[in-house]
Amino acid sequence: MNLKKSIISIPWTEKYRPKTIDEVAHQSEVVDALKNSLKTENIPHILFYGPPGTGKTSTILAIATQLFGPKLFRSRVLELNASDERGIQVIRDKVKKFAQLSAIQKDDRYPSPAFKIIILDECDSMTQDAQNALRRIMEQYSKETRFCIICNYISKIIDPLASRCAKFRFKPIPEKIMQERLNFIAKTEGIEIEEKALEALMESSQGDLRKAITILQSTSKMISKKTTQSKPEEKKMAIEEEDTNIETEPNVKITEELIFDVSCSVPLSVVKEFIESCKASSINELVTTCQKLINSAFSIPQILLLSLKMIIEDNFLNNLQKAEICEKISEIESRLIDGADELLQLMELGVCILENYR
Ligand SMILES: Nc1ncnc2c1ncn2[C@@H]1O[C@H](COP(=O)(O)OP(=O)(O)OP(=O)(O)O)[C@@H](O)[C@H]1O
Ligand SMILES: [Mg+2]
Repeated sequence: MNLKKSIISIPWTEKYRPKTIDEVAHQSEVVDALKNSLKTENIPHILFYGPPGTGKTSTILAIATQLFGPKLFRSRVLELNASDERGIQVIRDKVKKFAQLSAIQKDDRYPSPAFKIIILDECDSMTQDAQNALRRIMEQYSKETRFCIICNYISKIIDPLASRCAKFRFKPIPEKIMQERLNFIAKTEGIEIEEKALEALMESSQGDLRKAITILQSTSKMISKKTTQSKPEEKKMAIEEEDTNIETEPNVKITEELIFDVSCSVPLSVVKEFIESCKASSINELVTTCQKLINSAFSIPQILLLSLKMIIEDNFLNNLQKAEICEKISEIESRLIDGADELLQLMELGVCILENYR
């Protein structure tokens, strides 16, 4: 494989994945507890849970690297993360086989404690049978193996399994920390982000740092492509540059509009316009407004979510009116899941808003 090419294609989420637990942002309780484990060179069975893109996988990979170093990593750490690898058969065979291997090799530069780590990522999709099988294996091999179970929803993990682990909750990353991280990445990659674009990124990623980084990378790729396309004489140069390890062109500016385009998010202005026109409309005008929104192919569930936010913050409405509209939004969301017609549902919301603003 061409090494340069492989460097070029690294997703930024991987490139900027924390290498040590100190680099993990905002999860101080987890990091502090794990730092103690690093000191004592021992870790319990662990259960990480929390929303996507908040550092669960990164944290366990970082601590495993800090314990064993890259040389021993492969022989000491087993990572299972494809959902289809989770049948009871894998639990009985793969995990068992790995757990039985000895763990006596040492790397002098790292603590290399005499155990192995089995990471079961995305465990939400693990069947109950497999979880039950895992519970027995955990007990059987707990001397030489530590399990790290990772999931988004702790309720999907059976109690007897959860109670065998030290549980750590990962919190959504707050905007300020996300912004710092994104600004750092942008600076390192030589791209400029408008203040508003950063806000749009926050809005579309909702505390999911992975999502934010992915949107940032896709947007910057789009810009560099556009620049290359618009100046054909520079195209050749850009291709040559690509071969010499330059990912994006320096000084490209990321705008709010581009972020909305790439993330397929609904701009707040669109929802504002929708609500304003509901307030002022007659039923006839309302049909046109809703039809226009449907034609623009924006995600209706996202429009509902943003409408909910705006209605709650609206000072004109009293609490009863707000509650009525919120209830309507929840009904509509549920009907959409059941396959109801988007236009009719949007119109129903429009009518409800119209009535409450009279
Ligand atoms: N707390 C954090 N500190 C620094 N970077 C982070 C953090 N959380 C997420 N990231 C960034 O997002 C990427 C994805 O994070 P990670 O894979 O650890 O998320 P996760 O919590 O395991 O998500 P999922 O539940 O979807 O598997 C990382 O490579 C890193 O770039
Ligand atoms: Mg993960």
